[in-house]
Amino acid sequence: MHRNAFLAASLLTVMVTACGSAEQPEVVEQIIVREPGEPETAVDPAGNDGAVDLVALGEDAFQICTGCHVNEAGAPSTAGPNLHGVIGRTAGGLEGYPYSDAVMTSDIVWDEASLDGYLADPAGYLPGTDMLAGAVPDPDTRAAIIAYLASTGE
Ligand code: HEC
Repeated sequence: MHRNAFLAASLLTVMVTACGSAEQPEVVEQIIVREPGEPETAVDPAGNDGAVDLVALGEDAFQICTGCHVNEAGAPSTAGPNLHGVIGRTAGGLEGYPYSDAVMTSDIVWDEASLDGYLADPAGYLPGTDMLAGAVPDPDTRAAIIAYLASTGE
């Protein structure tokens, strides 16, 4: 069996406690060693235990949506409805936006599950919707966008 550990250096510098020697430099490059079979983890620059910062990823990925949507309290809608506070909102619930009948007659209240379904395949999830682009096939990207929308709501 070979050790297939690999090293990923230079992702960030972290503070480490010098192990037993006061002469050790306090700041070193972090070395990540992954054993075969271990899940890949991403490094969060904020240092949250290797967890990915979903909200930040989602904010970046939201660029897919900004051609048609804003996400800003009180801002006028663009081609699509303003998505600020969309989680917990009844589909078609933004006053003044000319939604399709498909949205208006749906019984959807946007939550993580319904957003996930709609973003995966808008026209498949809600036949007749006017959202003709912006599908996000990758589930992780959808999760990140939804986390971002949730973080900006209220
Ligand atoms: C090509 C333009 C376009 C893109 C790109 C787009 N959308 Fe939309 N979106 C729309 C339109 C138009 C509607 C209104 C749909 C209707 O009335 O059937 C809509 C509706 C929605 C709704 C329902 C909102 C409500 O108030 O009920 C959500 C949620 C949504 N979009 C999320 C997204 C997200 C997230 C992205 C990016 C991943 C995205 N959309 C990308 C045009 C777009």
